[in-house]
Amino acid sequence: MCGIVGYIGNQKASPILINGLLRLEYRGYDSAGISTIEKNGLSIMKDKGRVKNLYNLEGIDNLTGTIGIAHTRWATHGKPSQENSHPHMDNSKTFSVVHNGIIENYHELRNFLTEKGYTFYSQTDTEVIPNLVHYYYNKDEKNDDLKFLRAVKNACSDLKGSYAIEIICKNHPNCMIVTRKDSPLVIGKGENENYISSDIPAILSFTKNFYLLDDFEFAILTTNSVDFYNKNLEHIQKETKSIEWNAASAEKDGYEDFMLKEIYEQPTAIRETIGAKFNDSSKCEFDELNFTKEYLSSLNKIYFIACGTAMHAGLVGKNIMEKLCKIPTEVDVASEFRYRDPLVDNKTLCIFISQSGETADTIAALKLCKEKGAKTLAVSNVIGSSITREADYSIYTHAGPEIAVASTKAYTSQVVLVAILAIYFAQILELDNKQINDLKKDIIELPKKIEETLKISENVKGFSKKIYQEKDVFFLGRGVDEAVAKEGSLKLKEISYIHSESYPAGELKHGPIALIENGITVVSIITEKHLVEKMISNIQEVITRGAKTLVITNQNVDENMFDMTIKIPETNSFISPILSIIPLQLLSYYISKEKGLDVDKPRNLAKSVTVE
Ligand code: AGP
Ligand code: GLU
Repeated sequence: MCGIVGYIGNQKASPILINGLLRLEYRGYDSAGISTIEKNGLSIMKDKGRVKNLYNLEGIDNLTGTIGIAHTRWATHGKPSQENSHPHMDNSKTFSVVHNGIIENYHELRNFLTEKGYTFYSQTDTEVIPNLVHYYYNKDEKNDDLKFLRAVKNACSDLKGSYAIEIICKNHPNCMIVTRKDSPLVIGKGENENYISSDIPAILSFTKNFYLLDDFEFAILTTNSVDFYNKNLEHIQKETKSIEWNAASAEKDGYEDFMLKEIYEQPTAIRETIGAKFNDSSKCEFDELNFTKEYLSSLNKIYFIACGTAMHAGLVGKNIMEKLCKIPTEVDVASEFRYRDPLVDNKTLCIFISQSGETADTIAALKLCKEKGAKTLAVSNVIGSSITREADYSIYTHAGPEIAVASTKAYTSQVVLVAILAIYFAQILELDNKQINDLKKDIIELPKKIEETLKISENVKGFSKKIYQEKDVFFLGRGVDEAVAKEGSLKLKEISYIHSESYPAGELKHGPIALIENGITVVSIITEKHLVEKMISNIQEVITRGAKTLVITNQNVDENMFDMTIKIPETNSFISPILSIIPLQLLSYYISKEKGLDVDKPRNLAKSVTVE
């Protein structure tokens, strides 16, 4: 969590830093702060709450420094407050640091430093970092160019946990040092200036050329140079990567919120993700993959491992992999998987789905699978993200930057990409050609059907006005629709703060139906042809107990039975979640708006969960 930004060049740093923080605010918004090197030494300006509060700080306009670091926080250690805000300085006010991640052994380090005479002014884990750097800096008797770097490296050798760190020092006013382990950090290369950011979109308007730092590597940035070092402080070379996203796609483009914009970008996101994979009508190819029939036939199972919405995409993937490819498939939440001692070996293919590619639990699960000898495949939206650098293979959704905390276009893009992957496997395995060709045809038609669904789904706005004050909502489905119920329920919780539950519709009578009472809202999804009657019976059971009902369906149902029905276009049931989730995304969006909430930045959440 949290966003970090850095600038070194010839321009005034503070406006550039604040601008970057505003774009990274989706990653955390408990507090914000910047530190620059001014003529009279290090300056720090920080406050609790949103980035825009920085504009009110006295003296912020008088900063002239051309080098600086900045942070927007998602608190892990210490409550959101002024003193816990980053940047943090060492006691002598020589070093200023921002940090994304968790220092797990901070207690031990704090005790060590306290014994050496250091005092702590915050409750954060981060504050040990500048003081440790100071400790090693003072101990070092050599006064050469690398003294600052050596101090940072020695301090980092003591840290356990995760970090992306930026450090400036008043004794070295012409450089900045950055390093990382298990937390994201990119370096943007400009003309006579260089940038740091937690993600690419935040600095896309300044540069399209990026360096990606690996774990335990260090970079020293000056106005005209970026020098890289490995963990032994040997100089290493890196090439820049150029990024095709344009800066405008990370702006709101006239939409009121990023979430709404991203919901409406789904036809494009899906079109781009399908890309050229079906250009040649005979075969679907992934340039990045080289699986053989022998390998795929030898698999004991496929495992989808992910968190939150990405895990829900895995649930849809399980249905496709098992039915189309006949490979047993399991789905697990990464935070559980990694501590489960899972049954994974060299005959297991582990697929990790992550929009950001930076989710700490997913990365840890991936490392575990590699240790166990499994092949690992990453499905991500961010080229060069940590997960794609760790995995044996990586394939990409092309949803463009997703800024709203609630995932929408990334989810539908993940589902389509996994469906295409299943086609690729099924072709290699020489399985049922008709089923493969039908799915292919339906995938190609998806962007148009999404456009249609978006138009129809606008009708949920009226329904949202009726239910926005409710305390509980239930989501029901069977088969693949149950996976959609889960995702619809998560969307509602995270942006509207309404408690919601999702259930396999047949499971209701085994307990949860006790919660159904007069006026409660039940949302059902019906796209599985062979389960229509079963679903109708379950909905009838809640109507009998007084529930208000919203039904999302592409089947022939008696619409008079329900309070509202949204009829979406028909498609292959493997990919129907891509259409059926759209009215649910809009329902959550409109409920959140009706309640006057911050749709893009819901409380307590952050876009990228880079801590455990
Ligand atoms: C979705 O709306 C979420 N905010 C969240 O569940 C998210 O999908 C999850 O944190 C995983 O993120 P990732 O795809 O970047 O790994
Ligand atoms: N652990 C640090 C803190 O609580 C950094 C958290 C973050 O990554 O935002 O201040």
